[in-house]
Amino acid sequence: MTLEELEKSARGAIKDATVREALEEIRIHYLGRKGELTNILRSLKELPLEERKSIGPRANALRNDLEDLLAEAAAKFGQAEEKIVDISAPGKKAVRGHIHPLSRVQAEAVKIFEGLNFSVVLGPEVESEHYNFDALNIPANHPAREMWDTFWLKPQQKVEKEKMLLRTHTSPVQVRYMEEHEPPFQIVVPGRVFRYEATDQSHEINFYQLEGLMVGRDVNLGNFKFIIEEFLRKFFGKKIDFRFRPSYFPFTEPSVEVDIKLGGKWLEVMGAGMVSPRVFEYAHYNPRDWQGFAFGVGIDRLAMIKYGIPDIRLFYSGDLRFIRQF
Ligand code: FA5
Repeated sequence: MTLEELEKSARGAIKDATVREALEEIRIHYLGRKGELTNILRSLKELPLEERKSIGPRANALRNDLEDLLAEAAAKFGQAEEKIVDISAPGKKAVRGHIHPLSRVQAEAVKIFEGLNFSVVLGPEVESEHYNFDALNIPANHPAREMWDTFWLKPQQKVEKEKMLLRTHTSPVQVRYMEEHEPPFQIVVPGRVFRYEATDQSHEINFYQLEGLMVGRDVNLGNFKFIIEEFLRKFFGKKIDFRFRPSYFPFTEPSVEVDIKLGGKWLEVMGAGMVSPRVFEYAHYNPRDWQGFAFGVGIDRLAMIKYGIPDIRLFYSGDLRFIRQF
């Protein structure tokens, strides 16, 4: 077979190949160890010099051409194969992420208060001693500081005049907001808080609160009761057992706490009261002109009651079997 004949038949075979396997057969037939072109190349040395000079380069060029053609044809088969869709194959189920129950409860609570005309305000998690305690009428050595076991932060630099901490409640945002705004207003502040305390079924070292603050003329405890009852009714969507109980906070006077029944027992969900004149003084409001109520509700506790969850620690367990139930 001459080189020309060989080239013609090889090109034709590659063109006619309909499956990838056929290409491999063609390769072996022409370029394999005992292939037709290989034989010609191997026999070159037996040819007279003149012929060798003319056939040698052409045979080598043909080998390269055929290799390229084979690779090109194989690539086409590869692409075609990828395009095949087996519509009878069982589908792969996409794993969907979803919203953590605490985020959901927080969003629901915020939405209800927005419906009651409250605006949403945020504040820092790393807070100063001043806003977390002093400006809320809890000076150093005040026994009430023991109500909030605190994660104190190591001073970063000498220039930092104040002691810093992880906020123990969302109440410091009350003061931050009042310093920069004039009444009347009504705000809620959702956020994460931290306490250096032992954990149990209803206590975590890190949890979520929603602070509320309404300041205006003639705001009274009756307004507070109305708002909270309205909130609880909307949030739970059904009748629940709850009670107001007298309490003490340095930044409210009088102070109350709200309990809700969970599994036959009262669970405290909220601290609240009428804003103390001492706190208004920090904000430079005249307590004769303005009154207000404030509250701090535990988001985790609301979620426990809503979904009947017996242990707060489940929220932070990272156990997907728990989280996926919501
Ligand atoms: C406060 O934190 C006050 N700042 C609330 C307040 C705001 C009073 C405005 C008056 C005016 P207390 O420490 O009681 O108060 O916490 C409030 C709520 O947070 C509790 O009722 C409870 O629902 C929740 N809570 C408190 N400690 C924990 C904890 N360790 N784990 C989970 N939830 C907690």
